[in-house]
Formats: sequence, C-alpha cells, structure tokens
Amino acid sequence: MKMKVGVVGAGLYGSVLINAYYGAHRRSEIDFVAVADVKQDALDKVAKTYGIRGYLDYNEMFDKEQLDAVAIVTPDFLHEACVLDAANKGIHILVQKPLSTDIEAAKRMIACAKANKVMLYVDFHKRFDPGHMQLRRAIKEGKLGQIEYGYVCMEDKILVPTEWFKTWAHNSSPAWFLGIHFFDLIYWLLGEKPHKVYATGHKKKLVSLGIDSYDSIQAKFEFPSGATISVDSSWIIPNSFCSVVNQQIRIVGTDGMQEVDSQDRGVVAAYESSGSSLVINPYGQLQVDDPVAGSIPVGYTVESMLYFLRLVNKMITDGIGLKDLKAEYPTGDEALVSTIMCQKAHESVEYGRIMDLSY
Ligand SMILES: NC(=O)c1ccc[n+]([C@@H]2O[C@H](COP(=O)([O-])OP(=O)(O)OC[C@H]3O[C@@H](n4cnc5c(N)ncnc54)[C@H](O)[C@@H]3O)[C@@H](O)[C@H]2O)c1
Repeated sequence: MKMKVGVVGAGLYGSVLINAYYGAHRRSEIDFVAVADVKQDALDKVAKTYGIRGYLDYNEMFDKEQLDAVAIVTPDFLHEACVLDAANKGIHILVQKPLSTDIEAAKRMIACAKANKVMLYVDFHKRFDPGHMQLRRAIKEGKLGQIEYGYVCMEDKILVPTEWFKTWAHNSSPAWFLGIHFFDLIYWLLGEKPHKVYATGHKKKLVSLGIDSYDSIQAKFEFPSGATISVDSSWIIPNSFCSVVNQQIRIVGTDGMQEVDSQDRGVVAAYESSGSSLVINPYGQLQVDDPVAGSIPVGYTVESMLYFLRLVNKMITDGIGLKDLKAEYPTGDEALVSTIMCQKAHESVEYGRIMDLSY
C-alpha cells in the first residue's frame, strides 16, 4: 500500500509543493489524496489542474483521508495549530520554514510531535543545494581550516512583500522569511550553535507603502569557536533586479575560503515576453520532461520536499518507528536553533544591544 499524503495550504509555495508531490504521485511513489485550504478558489485550481480532492477544513481532511503524511504550507505565523492537530492525529509532518515565528510555539510543536511519535520535518532546502553540500564537506574535511568569518545575503524583490504576501508581510519579516534559511544553513555548516547575536534593522520603505515590517535586517552571529558570520536579509531589492531572489554565502577560514553564489549559476535568459534579462537558478527548481512521469519539477527545493516522503515511506515499509530511523534531516529540534537565532536577532534590533543565545 502506498503512503497517503495530503497538503495544507495551496497558495504560492503550496502550489510549488503540490506540483512536486503530484510528480511523486505520477511516479507511483505516493498516493497524493487531498489538499486543504480556507479558500475555495485555491481548491478549485488544484482540482482543475490535478484532479485532487479539496477540503476547506484541514481537520476534516485529516479525519476522512487517514493520511500518513501531510505538508503544511500556510503563512509563517500560522503553522502551530495545524502542526499540533496533525501530530495529535498521528500524521507525519513536513512544515515550511520558519517552524514558527515564536520560540515557545516552536517548543510546543516539537513536544507534541515527540509525544505522538511523528516526524516533524522543517523544509530547509538550502541544505539540499549541491553548492552548500560541497561547502559542508569541505568544512568537515578541514579544507578551510578554522573558520574565522563569513558573510551571507538573501534578498527579495520588493514585489514579494508588497504583492505576493501583502496580507501577511506584517506578521513576518525579511529575517523570518528569508534570513531563517541561512540561519539554519550556517548552524548546519559549522555544526555549532551561535551564542551571541547583534542585529540592526530598518523600517522605512515598506512602512511608507503601508506594510509594517522591516525592509532589512543585518544580523551578526558569534559561535563558541570564535567564528563570526553576518547574515543580511532584505525585502526591498528593486523590481528591476534580474531575479526574484538574490543569495550568496562566503566563508573564510585559516586555510581556505569558499563562496557559493546561489543567484548567478551562469544561466541567463532574455525573452521578448519578460521585458528584461532573467538570471535563472536551475539548481533550485526546473520543470523537466521525465520519460515516465511526464512534466515534473526537479532541483534542490523539490529534493527537500521529496526526501521527507522517502523517510516516511521507509518507516512504513520497514515497519520502524522514528527512533530507529537512521537518517539526518532538518528536525524540529534543529529548527528550534534557527528560531531562537531569529527571535533573538529581532530582540537585538529592538533593544539595540548584543543578545546571548541559549538553547
Ligand atoms: N522554502 C521556500 O523557498 C519558500 C518560499 C515561499 C514560501 N515559503 C513558506 O511557505 C509558507 C506559505 O507561503 P506561501 O508563499 O505559499 O503563502 P501564501 O499566502 O501564498 O499561501 C498560504 C495559503 O495558506 C492558506 N491558509 C491559511 N490558513 C489556512 C488554514 N488554517 N487552513 C488551510 N489553509 C490555510 C491560505 O488560504 C493560502 O492559500 C510560508 O511559511 C512561507 O515562508 C517557503
């Protein structure tokens, strides 16, 4: 019997995930049975495109569909209720980043998943970027020596908070929405939790446009080894920029340095229909023609979503519980680290001082 999978949230990123899970369904890896969203038009679109059942109430979907696994793709600040409800019904969970925009809520989700013995997988796909995987290996093998400092930026075009997430941008921030990717990544790369953060932020442009959120947040983390890494996150890159997101990381150590430019992967396009040149990140997500499954998305963003399914499938087919699953993945406990890093970065902006981080 194939595992039964559902999705909660069929908005912008939910649609990306639904497309990826439909590819797995067509490859006969899962039985993708239903989608829940509070908006009927979102469900109608899914039904029309994929022929998948829709529910306006995710609890009704949980009760009627007897899911093995669910992917939760609701706005950043709305993850908790759905995670708790799914966990209490014994359903394994993939939840979008950030796990939560609140440390205590994150802890409640982790405790509930543990109490119900279900997987809580946080979709930190930067860990699946081959450039980052290779960087981690180089660090582990000591090729960079002792890490001294590093720099990261992740920036969105201003259309993201002003058009895409206009209704909930004020409940998030560039650090919660973007920075969190790299807060998790630097923790994963260095293999240690930072113990101090100092951050600054600006509220100018978005506030002038009626959105009460930060334009940008710059957070510098210090690790117990002495390494310091600065992470810039921003929501105000001009719409004339050549891709929706700009992102890079560079790490410097006593014996080496390494840079990964995740924005410019050397693929540039110019179409009469697009108006300006486009820089494309084909590693992230690319629609390809699979000889068996037809048109499917591939890339590290998809890989992360599918890895969750593979882990759950392994537990089901091998008849094993979570504690016997020998696999590394972005767990709730690990996601708590970036949640603490992010909340403390916001507190540092607010109080204008260095904050200590404890876990
Ligand atoms: N990993 C990535 O690269 C990436 C990219 C974009 C967004 N995201 C994350 O995905 C999540 C969703 O973002 P999005 O861009 O899809 O937002 P969105 O606003 O486009 O979509 C959210 C959807 O959730 C639905 N929803 C809200 N409350 C619900 C509920 N109680 N039950 C069912 N449906 C509900 C909304 O109706 C909407 O359709 C966020 O946490 C965001 O940070 C991740």
